Amino acid sequence: MKTLFFFAFSLILYSQFSFTQSANLDPQEVKALKEIGEKLGLVGKKKWDFDKDPCSAQGGWEEYIFCDCSFESNTTCHVTQILISSQNISTSLPTEFTKLPYLQLLDLSRNYLRGTIPPEWATMRLSNL
Ligand SMILES: *[C@@H]1O[C@H](CO)[C@@H](O)[C@H](O)[C@H]1NC(C)=O
Ligand SMILES: *[C@@H]1O[C@H](CO)[C@@H](O)[C@H](O)[C@H]1NC(C)=O
Repeated sequence: MKTLFFFAFSLILYSQFSFTQSANLDPQEVKALKEIGEKLGLVGKKKWDFDKDPCSAQGGWEEYIFCDCSFESNTTCHVTQILISSQNISTSLPTEFTKLPYLQLLDLSRNYLRGTIPPEWATMRLSNL
């Protein structure tokens, strides 16, 4: 009886563990996103809320950020798309976008961007801009 109880208890613990375990964005990219968000004035509630993981598709992130979470046995995510059109962004473009090596699509349409595309961006391999 005791063993059975222990077995059932372990099973509950195990299922909770596997349920709560999810993939998170690479910490380097979280840092880069914070820097980008600060520069573009996008950090805050209802916008980029770093209380939630940017790849969680929750808390508003699902509107802005898309990730590939298949890295390291589905535990690590990398940002692949950033969609920030019509956000009234009127700053110049942060060079920190180059710190997102897996970024493929960046949608900045319908903003009021100033300046030119930073030369550092030449290092990026964006397939869509
Ligand atoms: C990762 O997730 C995909 C889709 O859910 C699955 O097919 C694959 O087997 C998983 N890979 C590992 C290593 O867990
Ligand atoms: C952009 O600015 C306009 C006018 O100030 C405002 O009505 C609109 O809600 C803003 N949009 C966003 C996404 O902040």
